[in-house]
Amino acid sequence: LSERLVALLVALIALSACSEEPLTLERSPALLGNVAHGRELVIRFECARCHAQGAAKSTSRCVGCHQAIGAAAKGGSIDEVPIVDPPRDKIALWDERIVHFRELPSFIGATRLLRREWLRDFLLDPHDLRPRLDETMPALPMTAEEADDVVAYLGTLDDVVSRRDAFFRDEHAGDYERDGDLGRGARLFAEHGCASCHAMSGVLAQPRPAAGVADTRALELAPDLRFTRERFQPERLVPWLLQPSFYKHDSAMPDNRLTEQEGRDLAAFIMKAPLAAQPAPERPLRLPPLDRPVGWDEVSAEVFGKVCIHCHSDPDAEMGDGGPGFAGGFGMPMRKLDLTDYESTFAGYLDDDGKRRSVFEPSHDGTPRLVAALWARWEEQQGKKAAVRGMPLGLPALSVEQIQLVESWVAQGRPR
Ligand code: HEC
Ligand code: HEC
Ligand code: HEC
Ligand code: HEC
Repeated sequence: LSERLVALLVALIALSACSEEPLTLERSPALLGNVAHGRELVIRFECARCHAQGAAKSTSRCVGCHQAIGAAAKGGSIDEVPIVDPPRDKIALWDERIVHFRELPSFIGATRLLRREWLRDFLLDPHDLRPRLDETMPALPMTAEEADDVVAYLGTLDDVVSRRDAFFRDEHAGDYERDGDLGRGARLFAEHGCASCHAMSGVLAQPRPAAGVADTRALELAPDLRFTRERFQPERLVPWLLQPSFYKHDSAMPDNRLTEQEGRDLAAFIMKAPLAAQPAPERPLRLPPLDRPVGWDEVSAEVFGKVCIHCHSDPDAEMGDGGPGFAGGFGMPMRKLDLTDYESTFAGYLDDDGKRRSVFEPSHDGTPRLVAALWARWEEQQGKKAAVRGMPLGLPALSVEQIQLVESWVAQGRPR
């Protein structure tokens, strides 16, 4: 993993050590994690590949590289793109093609705003939080103890980044339980256009079309407020509503012009509005195999080359390490699965014992392993634990038509 990340982390630790103020770690007794071990784990699970914003200079950072390409396309320096001699003439085309892993939530303020128990549970069993963000947090092979350590470490980052603490002088100013009105909050929510960015499933069926909101970052990063009552530290909610940038200086939520009373009313609405049960999303029906011929070129163009190769390709000295599905990553072992061409796809992947296996071998349910991984992603989206890891990892499940194409190709004897 990137030496730069290690250097950055070491710098942050050093920074906290020489600062005059003592570290003010708020540790809930149940979550006393081992900070040093947490730091090792954050490196091992490579959280920074997805969560470090605007820090490219590493050939493995998904978000960093994609953002550097976006910045170069807007006239920024091409030297920030972590590729040897980035081809100037391709930047605009790349920028157009890159849709995913561009804007993900940063860690800044996470432990100041979110409950540590929630953070730990989320790491162990993540679920979709943001309706307009395609990407989801992948379930990492992490134990409960490790999750505690990671959360403890994240807490120290927040202490380095932001030392400000008390928002109100009057400790009751944020008390929405005592002084907030749910009904008034509901009206304010509508008046202030909160629903143009936020869904609150169980209250508002769908996020309303965001008329007039041009900031795609804000739209994608806006959480479904259904989960806020589980996630948020209650005493931080009113400060957040009045001034999101106070605890999270890179917040994509604009500061609102609200009075303290309006903040309490909105908080009462968000924390206490009755939520209707949410039906689990349905898994679509499998389509019958196509009876027309399906060849490699079509499967590659529609599926492997579009989505999979960005994590499953042969390492290339200039473009990077081949991706986590080839070289290993996110705490997962090296699988050496290369889906870039016909021969490499047939070479298969390494199983847990390091033995080569075909991706066409029957899986637990009799379907080829490759196909099982695609359906498993649908099951994960339904909140179920799948028997194999769903693919594409962290991205939306393939459409039934795409899966049909893969299944048809396999059933027809995988012609070239
Ligand atoms: C493959 C990319 C990827 C990796 C690796 C990854 N995450 Fe995430 N993470 C995401 C995405 C995407 C989301 C947003 C999920 C959503 O909103 O539904 C997310 C959300 C989160 C959140 C919730 C933040 C918020 O404001 O809602 C936390 C906390 C988090 N990740 C911690 C971690 C930690 C700690 C690691 C490393 C141990 C890690 N992630 C590794 C992609 C990743
Ligand atoms: C060194 C720069 C770089 C790194 C690092 C990088 N990418 Fe990309 N990515 C690109 C470029 C360039 C494209 C567009 C390629 C094309 O289609 O011509 C792309 C395209 C993609 C696409 C397809 C378009 C889309 O947005 O759906 C996905 C998915 C993707 N990358 C995922 C990842 C993931 C996951 C990682 C980290 C494991 C990653 N990338 C790391 C440069 C990078
Ligand atoms: C322009 C889009 C936008 C508007 C309008 C907006 N928000 Fe947000 N809101 C966001 C984003 C983005 C975040 C996540 C911030 C981040 O992580 O950087 C957020 C976060 C939140 C959170 C924290 C939720 C959680 O579970 O973490 C609450 C609560 C919230 N907003 C309430 C409101 C209310 C109430 C209004 C109306 C007064 C409002 N927002 C208006 C974009 C918006
Ligand atoms: C964001 C990165 C990423 C993307 C995109 C991705 N994979 Fe993977 N893939 C991985 C990782 C990491 C592993 C190793 C998983 C493990 O060890 O549990 C893996 C493993 C696999 C395996 C081996 C079986 C297994 O579970 O270990 C198959 C088959 C597979 N992927 C197929 C695909 C297909 C097909 C696509 C495109 C539809 C795809 N992957 C897209 C990261 C990715």
